[in-house]
Amino acid sequence: MKQLLAIIALILSFTTLEAKIHNERTELHHLVHTIRDPQTDPKHFRRCLKKIGEYLALETLQTFTRKEVEVRTLTKASATHYLCDEKPVLVTIMRAGLPLLLGVQEVFPNSEVGFLGTMRDEETLKPSTTYIALPTIKNKTVILVDTMLATGGSILDAVKIIEERGPAQIIVICAIAAKDGIARVLSHNSNITIYAAATDPILNEKGYIVPGLGDAGDRSYGEKH
Ligand code: PRP
Ligand code: URA
Repeated sequence: MKQLLAIIALILSFTTLEAKIHNERTELHHLVHTIRDPQTDPKHFRRCLKKIGEYLALETLQTFTRKEVEVRTLTKASATHYLCDEKPVLVTIMRAGLPLLLGVQEVFPNSEVGFLGTMRDEETLKPSTTYIALPTIKNKTVILVDTMLATGGSILDAVKIIEERGPAQIIVICAIAAKDGIARVLSHNSNITIYAAATDPILNEKGYIVPGLGDAGDRSYGEKH
């Protein structure tokens, strides 16, 4: 019986994982193809990340509560529309999250934005967050934006910092997510929804996503020395 329950739980966890990834749009395939290409220069790379952020933010918009709003036009007649009734707080992880954030802000221009300064140790791959600048997030929807979800360590660090502040829900937007990293984040909190433009199968020995795109921070802003 115990074994049967474990198998059901395993099947359910795979179903949930698949259901939380949104990467059907052809536009996203074009954009991810471009950012994976090593020949893409930083300017074009950042522009594609911004566009990816915008598309994925539009997907999240579909899930938010709406309110009925009337507008009276120049013809003196009125029309009814259903507008987003939420103002999520955006939080990004520097550096690589910044170009993606710019796209998310196109969809939520009035949202407050929080910043986390997080770096992965190149040897241990453990993240350390040394800069935290967050607005009030109690009872609010938080959209956490980072370009790469590799081991999941950086996102998880951010999730824990956000959870301490009592958000209503956490949504993650990233360009490329590795399967193990996704599983790690969702096993910590299965209520998180992850929107990714692509999911990749593995990490290499240096903790880079494969096929991935390389170092997203370096490709956006230049190498760190
Ligand atoms: C990148 C990216 C993520 C992290 C993902 O940051 O922005 O935060 O790696 O890796 P993880 O899932 O294994 O934690 P990086 O440490 O390369 O810093 P940078 O953005 O400043 O280049
Ligand atoms: N951070 C990156 O920038 N790229 C990866 O593939 C993994 C972590």
